[in-house]
Amino acid sequence: MALQEPDKYILSIDQGTLTTRAMIFNHKGFKVAETERPLKSFTPQPGWMEHEANEIWNAVQQVIATILINTSIQPQNIAAIGITNQRETTVVWNKNTGEPIYHAIGWQSQQSSKIVDDLIKNGEQQKFRDKTGLNINTYFSATKIRWILDHVDGAQKAAENGDLLFGTIDSWIAWKLSDGATHVTDYSNASRTMLFNIHTLEWDQELLDLMNIPLQMMPTVRSSSEIYATTQTLQFYGASVPISGMAGDQQAALFGQAGFEVGNVKNTYGPGSFIIMNTGSEPQLSDSNLITTIAYGVDGKITYGLEGSIFVAGQAVDWLQDNLGMINNAFESREAALASTNNDEVYVVPAFNGLGSPYWDPDARGSVFGLTRGTNKNDFIKATLQSIAYQTKDVVETMVKDTGLEINTLKADGGASRNTYLMQFQADILNIEIDRAAEEDTTALGVAFLAGLAVGYWKDTDELKAIIADGKIFKPAMEESKRKTLYSGWKNAISATQLFKP
Ligand code: G3P
Repeated sequence: MALQEPDKYILSIDQGTLTTRAMIFNHKGFKVAETERPLKSFTPQPGWMEHEANEIWNAVQQVIATILINTSIQPQNIAAIGITNQRETTVVWNKNTGEPIYHAIGWQSQQSSKIVDDLIKNGEQQKFRDKTGLNINTYFSATKIRWILDHVDGAQKAAENGDLLFGTIDSWIAWKLSDGATHVTDYSNASRTMLFNIHTLEWDQELLDLMNIPLQMMPTVRSSSEIYATTQTLQFYGASVPISGMAGDQQAALFGQAGFEVGNVKNTYGPGSFIIMNTGSEPQLSDSNLITTIAYGVDGKITYGLEGSIFVAGQAVDWLQDNLGMINNAFESREAALASTNNDEVYVVPAFNGLGSPYWDPDARGSVFGLTRGTNKNDFIKATLQSIAYQTKDVVETMVKDTGLEINTLKADGGASRNTYLMQFQADILNIEIDRAAEEDTTALGVAFLAGLAVGYWKDTDELKAIIADGKIFKPAMEESKRKTLYSGWKNAISATQLFKP
């Protein structure tokens, strides 16, 4: 007898910069299990950042196997699979052999900076911005594809012959899970490539020509919630399960936070921090260097977003631990910040690989200001946590200016949102409420929702809103004069950071 809905589950695969994770959600949107594998990264040269695409695929298989074994959930009781992913990271593979022709080039990698410089020098900035909503930057996929085609012997010719495929990590996983049957991506991921026209909703032939990238390499772009393929039985233990949700991790988090209304804003505090505002059915171009993105496409309707991308957030806490040895784990950063007794006069600007929104300064490097003989480790750790909140304020202020919309609440999620010191300082420095999600993995929850909607596991977004558990509210409690002084110190630190070019 077929199982009833409550006995079936949704499996989310969340492939990120640091880990590959699988999570299983039940009909109440409750996470019943999770498992993860760390992901190696390679730095062949300073500023580069690569992964092995095959390691990613192996990890996906391992986390699926582990989670099914650990929970004793039968593969056929998975109602649908959703895939969410680190965005922009670029894989090019041979469609005949299934082998990547180069490492996956990570979103932070700057090896294509010369290609970027040339495009900017040639005056192409406005064209890309108008069509794709993005600034020309190494961050997005287009120049990474170009770099691979330039640097792997015979790659351009093979691409022109139709032997090579490009995909962001969602495409790569879906292609593997379907045993090569499906080469797709969704609107949210396509909108991060710098090749997708967010107005016509097609790969932009003029931009492809400019980059000399053959259209036949590009995946078919589909909505974020529909059945793209079913798992090949070999890949999923005898079960043929629909793969029916795909979204870039940051957009998935907006969906998992029920950010369905215009003006809803979320920040995911992961290794980087990505703030997205739902701007509705029309793309809104920013006057202040935020980027326009597609949040999701569901039921034939596109929802756009305005995004501020902060490259270093939680990673700064890892840096305190791994490089400076100041803490043994991320939790200690909260204790240290609370133990600091200085007046917040130290500023750490963690511009390890440039500054993202709204500065877009790829050459900036990290800096520290305001040290005195009395500065101690706790002050340093506190300043590092505060840098995450200041960078968020830079973006939120810009969003308000660009859209004219008032932001009363910032929805927070992601690993670093567990840090209550950070959340309170964020509320204080923004002077708005922070609503921290009960489910910290809203990314995985969001893509579970997208996958579940496509197969009728959940009916509609109203049902999703109803099942999302209440989060924790952090209310601002800082005096206006202090807030102003602190933030103006941060702005000075940013200006000074931008003046210094090693
Ligand atoms: O745009 C990059 C972003 O999607 C990376 O996400 O959390 O895996 O570092 P994360």
